[in-house]
Amino acid sequence: MFQHDLLKGQRILVTGGGSGLGKCMTRRFMELGAEAIICGRRAEVLKETAAELAEATGGAISTHSLDIRDADAVDAMIGEVFAAGPLDALLNNAAGNFIAETETLSPRAVDAVLNIVAHGSVYATLACGKRWIEMGRKGHVLSILATYAWTGAPYVVPSAMGKAAVLAMTRSLAVEWGRKGVRLNAIAPGPFPTEGAWSRLFPTPEIADKVEKDSPLGRTGRHEELENLAAYLMADGSEYMNGEVVTIDGGRWMNRASSMDFGYELTPEQWDHFRPKKG
Ligand code: HXC
Repeated sequence: MFQHDLLKGQRILVTGGGSGLGKCMTRRFMELGAEAIICGRRAEVLKETAAELAEATGGAISTHSLDIRDADAVDAMIGEVFAAGPLDALLNNAAGNFIAETETLSPRAVDAVLNIVAHGSVYATLACGKRWIEMGRKGHVLSILATYAWTGAPYVVPSAMGKAAVLAMTRSLAVEWGRKGVRLNAIAPGPFPTEGAWSRLFPTPEIADKVEKDSPLGRTGRHEELENLAAYLMADGSEYMNGEVVTIDGGRWMNRASSMDFGYELTPEQWDHFRPKKG
């Protein structure tokens, strides 16, 4: 879909890049010529991913293990990354989520998710942004949201709150930092199956199956579709995009909001019933 050197020369940091969608997007950036830096909590997972992606793409990749909820550790890690060479972009991908009846959540459960999603994203963004501004260098922050950042969502309330916060950060800093050469955008993916998200969010095969079919396109997202959107937004040719959130969900969230998708199930006779009768 793209020329092979689309991201050549870019150094991109992907938080939570060791597994799931972060790993997929990292692979795509490397295929397109970028140097990747991935961080996450599990050093072993990061190492395995780095070896796999380096072999698959022939690209350069390094790893840093840390907890994104630790602001000092995030700043120190990003300091080390910049010391090795200036970064061009940050992908705020690290997330934490699980389903629960909200009235049962302990304060620590709320904090666990919000500290990863909202705080982790702002810590990484500030650590990169202040360095770009100080150096007079341009930079780009891309964040992974969910469509429930603006619709809200039951049973994943801390995650919905965290994604809403990252959306507000994206739009606010796009305006504040645009003049300083730093732009911010976001992607709101619908369901893209991964082991991590599916095991935490969709408790039975029947529910997972319904999520897969219950969409205007009748399917979930293919990883390459998300990877290509992320690559487009990372490329120099899309630089006028700033403060935007691009939804990639096959039209799912609008369908859910309208509550009119019962139309999929109506028979021709039932549709006929609604037509004005002649004569
Ligand atoms: C209720 C829970 C819980 C659950 C944990 N807690 N899981 N409460 N239901 N299922 C509570 C614990 O009891 C504890 O509170 C507090 O949360 C912290 O739990 P820990 O296990 O100590 O936390 P930690 O090891 O830091 O793990 C963080 C985590 C975990 C968020 C809970 O799930 C995680 O590490 N996730 C990272 C990966 C991830 O979630 N990926 C999926 C992203 S999917 P107490 O009070 O008991 O001490 C995604 C997609 C969205 O974002 C879009 C979909 C369409």
